[in-house]
Amino acid sequence: MNIREFIEEKKKKKEYEQLNTDKYIQLFEKNDKELETLMTYYECALMEIETKFKVMNAQFELTREYSPIETIKSRLKTIDSLVAKSHLYNVKPSFEDIEDKIEDVAGIRVICSFPEDIYIVADCFLQQDDITLIDCKDYIKNPKANGYRSLHLIVSVPIFLEHEKRDMKVEVQLRTISMDFWASLEHKLKYKKELPADINDRIVEDLLQCATASAELDMRMQNIRRQITGGVSHIDDEVDLQQWM
Ligand code: GTP
Ligand code: MG
Repeated sequence: MNIREFIEEKKKKKEYEQLNTDKYIQLFEKNDKELETLMTYYECALMEIETKFKVMNAQFELTREYSPIETIKSRLKTIDSLVAKSHLYNVKPSFEDIEDKIEDVAGIRVICSFPEDIYIVADCFLQQDDITLIDCKDYIKNPKANGYRSLHLIVSVPIFLEHEKRDMKVEVQLRTISMDFWASLEHKLKYKKELPADINDRIVEDLLQCATASAELDMRMQNIRRQITGGVSHIDDEVDLQQWM
């Protein structure tokens, strides 16, 4: 949705009066060309990153007869959630501040087959000399209290424009199919209506148990793979991502 459509939609929902006073909306409305440009740059950064993972998968297939990546999904933040996040994080209504402080305008999700593949793929990706690691959160080694698991990398990647090279930030989330299954369903459930406290507590506990079951399943499938391939010939040492920080 572009900014014009976004404002039109808010007008229809009679949210326009309130939003019109919003500095972000004013910024976006007055500078819709700049916003479009910025979003296009993020889209280009996503294309660069997506290609890198596709190339990696093709090369792994060639040399190891095995593709560690199941699927790649990318998304640009919607204007709605960009506005909401700018408010939440007290980001100044300027494109410079948005670029500087909001790290997930461009997001890519890389779904791997097995947990150990995640680290191999992440390490390969971070070794590329045009990728700069800005931040790394390992929710696989340290899951969130609710059970959420994934490896998050904030990186910057250059995009090459007509007269300029620009570094753009992208959030990369690496997960297994099982981690993605849990996170997708948990995300859907989170947005359901307010629930009485006792039911809510039970659901939180249930979700945590599902996350534990999902982590166990990942390990069992990985062990089966190891038995079938007779070890893990393509895994040398434990990958230390901190070396890229
Ligand atoms: P935000 O970017 O504002 O969310 O804060 P943060 O940078 O501390 O977030 P973090 O890196 O922990 O998570 C960023 C993204 O990971 C979210 O936008 C979601 O896509 C995903 N994520 C994080 N925690 C959860 C969770 O508990 N459940 C689900 N389903 N997804 C999560
Ligand atoms: Mg984030």
